[in-house]
Amino acid sequence: MSRVGRRDFLAGAAAAMGATLAWSAPTPARSRTRWVERRDLFAQGVASGDPAPDSVLLWTRASSAGDADAVALTAELAEDAAFERVVATASARALAAADHTCRVLVGGLQPGRFYWYRFTNASGEGSRIGRTRTAAAADDGAPVRFSFVSCQNVCEGAQNAYRRMIFEDEQRPPAEQLAFVLHLGDFVYEVVEYPEDRPEGKRYDRRLRYPVHFPDGEKVLAWHVPVTVADYRALYRAYLQDPDLQDARARWPFVPMWDNHEFSWQGWQTVQVFRDIVRPAQTRKVAANQAWWEYQPARVRKAGGTSLERFEAPAVRDVKLDRFDEHGLGQEPNNLAAIGSLTAYRSLRWGRHLDLLITDQHSYRSEEPSGRAAAAPLSSDAYPDLFPEEAMRVLDAGHAHPGGAPESIRFGDATVPNFRRTEPPQTILGAEQKAWFLERLRGSRATWKVWGNSAGTLDWRADPQNVPAGLTTPWPGGGYACFGGGGDYGTAYVERGEIYDAVAKDGITGFVTVSGDRHSFWAGLAAKDLPPRAFEPVGAAFITGSISAPGLAEAFEHRFPKDHPLRALYAGEVGGKPRTTVNLMLHHGVRSCLEYQRTGDLQAARRASNADLAPHVRFVDMGGHGYAVLRVAADAAECEFVCIPRPLERSETPDGGPLRYRVAHRVPLWRKGERPQLEQRVIEGDPETAL
Ligand SMILES: [Fe+2]
Repeated sequence: MSRVGRRDFLAGAAAAMGATLAWSAPTPARSRTRWVERRDLFAQGVASGDPAPDSVLLWTRASSAGDADAVALTAELAEDAAFERVVATASARALAAADHTCRVLVGGLQPGRFYWYRFTNASGEGSRIGRTRTAAAADDGAPVRFSFVSCQNVCEGAQNAYRRMIFEDEQRPPAEQLAFVLHLGDFVYEVVEYPEDRPEGKRYDRRLRYPVHFPDGEKVLAWHVPVTVADYRALYRAYLQDPDLQDARARWPFVPMWDNHEFSWQGWQTVQVFRDIVRPAQTRKVAANQAWWEYQPARVRKAGGTSLERFEAPAVRDVKLDRFDEHGLGQEPNNLAAIGSLTAYRSLRWGRHLDLLITDQHSYRSEEPSGRAAAAPLSSDAYPDLFPEEAMRVLDAGHAHPGGAPESIRFGDATVPNFRRTEPPQTILGAEQKAWFLERLRGSRATWKVWGNSAGTLDWRADPQNVPAGLTTPWPGGGYACFGGGGDYGTAYVERGEIYDAVAKDGITGFVTVSGDRHSFWAGLAAKDLPPRAFEPVGAAFITGSISAPGLAEAFEHRFPKDHPLRALYAGEVGGKPRTTVNLMLHHGVRSCLEYQRTGDLQAARRASNADLAPHVRFVDMGGHGYAVLRVAADAAECEFVCIPRPLERSETPDGGPLRYRVAHRVPLWRKGERPQLEQRVIEGDPETAL
């Protein structure tokens, strides 16, 4: 039995979580609930979330409740799939006010164990059976394996990655199966196309599907977007009917964090941005938070109260943000109320080796500066998607720029006023969350401190200054370029530097970042600066490819102008086949791309590598889809990238279809004062330009 007593659990959990609790019985007993599986009445399946050593959250939705105010359900949790040894039974209500979703927190459980659960209505009609697993006890020295994923789009692709994950997990002995799935966001995409929007029914290589229709909704530019909580709920309902996603949620506990698309594509705090449309959207942020809370079982904090039955949405209005504090946080009261309606950053401990710190990259962040209209003169059509690094540093730092903020920024012949001169440095975490994060990081006693961060942390840069004369006009910047614009930690230099300096100064070892969002696989070393500045890694960094949403390699294949003089850097062709040459540009530099184009020889291309461009990158595949698995143990952390072919259609086979490659990146645990090292092994398949 857990050492935490029943009374402590109920008091603590009630304070933190609300009242729908179940406590395990001292003696397991056969189920006394009549149960006939009716998946059609629980169309979004079941889920579990945020396991602790002694408790876990269970979830379902009574999908056929119609206009009933409440549906009474019985939740059961057992030590076996046949429910011969039931350890907890609880009554719970699925309220119309929560879209008939239902959460139950079960406590008094054994650490590091598998359990099975189900929900049943008063007529004996039940959900499918889910499996979950409690966290290992804090002194448990066994290795921990978990997967991390992001970016699934059921309108544009198939979730074969989950099928592959299930298939591989089933082959392993229980002790080596995945502990949980860390979902780093873009669980849904709120920008939706209807059949009439794109008569050809295709985007890039994708056949469009139309499972989502917003009851309210509005059209903004080319997309339909959600307006009300009913709209955001419609997204989750549709997505959770995907059979592979639903099977994954029924097999493992999920630990979810939103990225941008759970609220709004280019949104920040409560602001929506659609190209040049910028508008306040406090009502939509609250609606997005409400639907997320209803559909993602997670130990998060609601401003409205601790009830597990429903989300108490604060009444807010859409009011322009015009006053910001010294950390870029909009002080407009509706902004603060909407953001504060749900606080999702949190940590999870799993055994002796894993502390997982999960942060929110969108609710508190300041406006991304390089995307502002005033920054437009800092890009050039001759160099698509590249932005001068020195300008990015000026814009990121605002008034904190070392040596004083310059009045203007030069880019070729252009002189652009520094519109960030008097503003605070960019923040992604915001002051309060950052203080929490640094305190937790410093206080962690686990072997590995893993930062679950939806936004990538590795610089993505290119060396357009090395494009040979005569190919196109010379690069107008002063040196290196940032690729793909700003938005994540790859260009949040000041804040990333502050965090990595804390890691270095406090001698924190075993520091690893895991991210999503980029729709590409990246492995490398976490460092605040790159040459010509000092390159001093403080940890390892891994980014997973998307489950199914299209990535930039696919976009370039379709969109990049065929006759552009630099096509070989972005979407080259070798031997009559399209190649993901943008990988080489980001990892080895423009001369590698040109050498590859000229010779068709990848080894020769790598020999032309610019060693100063990306000493932090060991692997990058902008065309990869799939998932990543992190295994942490006493001596090392190992991250495996499981890459599948572009998931255009659902695989018919139980393994989820073929693999493109499997690559493992191993980081031996380093000691204080030592430098982290990354070793790499291709286990199967061919990552081609990714190495
Ligand atoms: Fe995404």
